[in-house]
Formats: sequence, C-alpha cells, structure tokens
Amino acid sequence: MTNFQFHAPSQIVFGPNGEEKVGSLCKQYGAHKVLIHYGGGSAVRSGLIDKVKKSLEEAGLEYVNMGGVVANPELGLAKEGIALCKAEGVDFLLAVGGGSVIDSAKCIGYGLANEGDVWDYYARKKTVTGCAPIGCILTIAAAGSEMSNTSVITNEDGWLKRGLSSSYAFCKFSILNPELTYTLPAYQTASGATDVILHTLERYFANPNAKPLALTDGIAETLLKTVMQFTPLALIDPKNYDARANLMWCSTFSHNDVTGDRNLGDWACHQIEHELSGMFKVAHGAGLAAVWGSWARYVMHENIDRFIQFAHNVFGIEDKVSKEYTALAGIEAMEEFFKCINMPTSIPELIGRKLTEEEIKTLAYKCCFMGARKVGQFKVLDIPNVEEIYRKANK
Ligand code: NZQ
Ligand code: ZN
Repeated sequence: MTNFQFHAPSQIVFGPNGEEKVGSLCKQYGAHKVLIHYGGGSAVRSGLIDKVKKSLEEAGLEYVNMGGVVANPELGLAKEGIALCKAEGVDFLLAVGGGSVIDSAKCIGYGLANEGDVWDYYARKKTVTGCAPIGCILTIAAAGSEMSNTSVITNEDGWLKRGLSSSYAFCKFSILNPELTYTLPAYQTASGATDVILHTLERYFANPNAKPLALTDGIAETLLKTVMQFTPLALIDPKNYDARANLMWCSTFSHNDVTGDRNLGDWACHQIEHELSGMFKVAHGAGLAAVWGSWARYVMHENIDRFIQFAHNVFGIEDKVSKEYTALAGIEAMEEFFKCINMPTSIPELIGRKLTEEEIKTLAYKCCFMGARKVGQFKVLDIPNVEEIYRKANK
C-alpha cells in the first residue's frame, strides 16, 4: 500500500538575517496586532526579540509580549496567553523559540479560535475547527513544529502531556536562520538532533501496511546519516554554519511527512517519552534516546527485515551470522551514536536514578490513556507491553 497524504503548507524563509523580514511576513498573512511569544530568555539575551520588535514597527504593526514558556510547555501560561490576546485584540501569534514556544503559540491559537476550555481539545473531548494564524522564528533544530501540524502541551493538573494535531496548526511561515542556533548549549543541540532522528525512525518503523516508496526510504536514510554527520561538528564548533544549516533543514524535513506519512508512523517511543518528560521535566530528545534501544529490541521480531535494511543502509553494516545479529548490530550502532553525543541510553542515565515499580505502572497507565488506547503500529503495545519497555530501559 503506497497511498499517503502530504500536506505541508508553511512558507519557509531559510538563511541568515531572515528575522529582519518578520514584520512584512506577519503583514502578508493579515496581522494587525501581534503576540510576540518566547521562552525563558535566550531570545532576549541574544538580541533577537529587539530585532523582531524593530521589524514589526517598521511594518507598522502593533504588538504585545509574552515570554516565560518553559521546555515542555504548560497549559497555565497558554491560558494566560489566550486571555491576553482576547483583551488586547491580537490577531497574529509569533513564536520566537523552539518547539515549546511554537507549541504554546499553537495552543493559544486554538484557544482563540475555539469555544470553551482549550484543554478539552487536547483531551479529545472536543474537535478543533480552527486556529488563529501563527508564524515562527526558529531558534533550535529539534521538534519540527515549524512545519508540523502538531502541538504538545502539559497540563499541570496531573502532569498530563498531550499532543493535538490538525491541519489548522501549520505555521503560515517559518523563518529558519541557522545562525540563531549558534548559542545553543551542547546538551540542547544533541537532544534536538536526537528528536530529529526519532521523528524519522518513528516513520521508518511504521505500520506493517505502510509500504514506503524507495524515494521515501532513501530520503529518510539520508536524513539520518546527515544528522549523524553534522551533530558532532556542531558540538565541536557551535558556529559551524554548514552543520547548523543541515541540522535545521533536517529538523524541518523530519517532521513534515516527507520521510513518511505520520498517520502510518509508530510513535510508541514518543508516547512513552512524553510521560517521562511530563513527569520528570527532562529534555524530550534525551528522553527518546533513553528508551529507543529498549523499544527496538522489544519489537524487532515483528519485521526483522526492516531492522536489517536500517543496519545496511544507515550504518553500512554487513550481514552477520544471523538476521537477528545483523538487526541488533544496527540497534547498537544507533545507541553508540547517542552515547557519542552524550545522550542517555537508559532511564537511570536520564533522570539520575532508577524508576520505582510503582512509577513504571503509573507511566504506562498514563501513556495508554488510563487503558483507553494502545500505542505503536510497528507492534501494537498495551499497558503490560509498555511497562516492559520502561523496565528494560530502567537498567
Ligand atoms: O526558554 P529559552 O531560554 O529560550 O531556552 C530554551 C530551552 O531551555 C533553549 N533554547 C532554544 N533556542 C535556544 C536556546 N538556548 C540558547 N540559544 C538558542 N538559540 O533550549 C531549551 C529547549 O527549548 P524547547 O523549545 O523546549 O526545545 P524543543 O524544540 O526540543 O521543543 C521541545 C518540545 O516540543 C515537543 C516536545 O514534546 C517538547 O514539549 N514536541 C513537539 C512536536 C511538534 N509540535 O510537532 C513534535 C516533537 O516530537 C515533540 O514532542
Ligand atoms: Zn519528537
């Protein structure tokens, strides 16, 4: 089955100084009054927010500010943003930051365009019918929210982390200036690169009915190799433009469905990880590195040939004495890469201690929406399966 849908309607403005065009881009998409939304301060310290204000003023646009978005963005601040935008008559949301800021802006956009409590849409009690227009200036290559239809928000009440995807939530434009990522700490660079890899792997190890085209697989395999080539260079030399530019474009391509239809992707690692970052506030990419190997070993027999293709084409591994050994060599090579960029490959390395058995049960229960859903498509996982993956990653 090669049927799929592809819809990625965000205008991309790639290259140095793109942020200087932000005023005219907001205007092009109908803005009169803009919310400048940002995180904990990196965009202020770098001078980016001042540049944004200047560009909006030059375009004759009004604006209000709201910073303070935390990594793994929270519902409370988004609700404050919704109230502020309603009070101020804001008609365009500009996210300046990473996935957390963009997702918070998307949540505000949903709150402005839909009635009632915005959490009801993330909790699947209601269906969204629109989203206020959003643009972004990206400052980290990671989540892919700059060209994805997704927003992930954490409700502080129970620390429930939930994603909401709809075609309304694509950014109208995304400004991708690789130089804006020069100030990233090494850990965030590596964690972001891991997330980019995982967006690709979630689609690569997909529903058994997904028969990817050779082009789709080829793009995915090249993307994985590109991230592995350029992440160490960005870590050694944070101002290496080529490295930063490749990582940024890989981020965008990893989650805009060009490497496979998201609806056929597996996503179990993401769902297993979201519970970890919801509960322990860890960086999302680092959480993914901590669980991927355990997931892969647990599910590889569902389609071992797919793991062998991965070992051959991504790592150049030759056939070993058995199919299983070849597949395992590919999994180990992926984990070796994570280690080499200082990412954790177990939960104790991620959070500094082992999970208790009670925590494992809680995490798996929440991950499966209190028993209301199973996760994964490469292998469909129920609560005991998910518990087992947490246990394997807990060593
Ligand atoms: O808050 P500030 O001070 O800006 O610091 C941030 C934050 O601490 C910092 N940072 C970002 N750009 C920087 C910088 N520091 C220095 N220089 C820069 N240029 O990096 C830290 C992490 O930022 P964050 O936005 O949290 O990173 P990321 O892009 O990885 O986003 C993570 C969130 O996105 C969600 C994750 O679950 C998590 O909540 N995801 C969103 C997706 C989507 N919308 O499509 C898909 C992903 O799979 C993911 O689930
Ligand atoms: Zn991700």
